[in-house]
Amino acid sequence: MTQLIFCNADVTLMRESDLAAVLDIERQSNPHPWAESSFRDAFSSGYLCLVAREAECIVGFAIVRVLIDDAELLLIAVAPSARRTGCASALLAGVIERLSARGKSPLHLEVRRSNVGAIAFYSAKRFVHTGVRKNYYPSGVIGQPREDALLMSLSL
Ligand SMILES: CC(C)(COP(=O)(O)OP(=O)(O)OC[C@H]1O[C@@H](n2cnc3c(N)ncnc32)[C@H](O)[C@@H]1OP(=O)(O)O)[C@@H](O)C(=O)NCCC(=O)NCCS
Repeated sequence: MTQLIFCNADVTLMRESDLAAVLDIERQSNPHPWAESSFRDAFSSGYLCLVAREAECIVGFAIVRVLIDDAELLLIAVAPSARRTGCASALLAGVIERLSARGKSPLHLEVRRSNVGAIAFYSAKRFVHTGVRKNYYPSGVIGQPREDALLMSLSL
């Protein structure tokens, strides 16, 4: 089923001047957020770094490590106030368009087993479950056990 996209965001390459807004979204979205240095490393390593920008405001971003044949979606996040309006769908469409143009497929990812919202998003986008990494993530909550990563892939 084709998803309706209501988000009016433009999806473009991330610029260094976007980093403050991106970090803000990352900290609101990820129990173990990337540090600014990790984003800078992603830039300098030539990762595909995209932002969704609505009326000059950054509302989401995606970071993809592009490999020889395939690619790995390392991060995707949308500002809490902009969720369920199609922004992540627009970002993923931007990722797929750019990877397809470069002949890269499939797109892989890892997601916490407890992240039911993200798993629902990826399933809606036809990612398929390909495996599990046991106890891969530190807990999102102090004192709780480590968490499994689910592996998912999308053929482009
Ligand atoms: C996961 C995330 C990126 C989705 O972003 P989003 O912009 O809200 O996603 P979209 O609006 O494009 O959603 C498209 C479809 O995915 C599914 N979906 C998205 N979020 C969902 C949720 N929380 N629960 C159930 N289904 C969801 C729905 O089918 C949705 O379509 P609908 O709104 O018409 O029902 C966002 O919730 C987020 O930033 N979460 C925190 C960061 C994170 O967990 N990232 C993934 C790490 S692996």
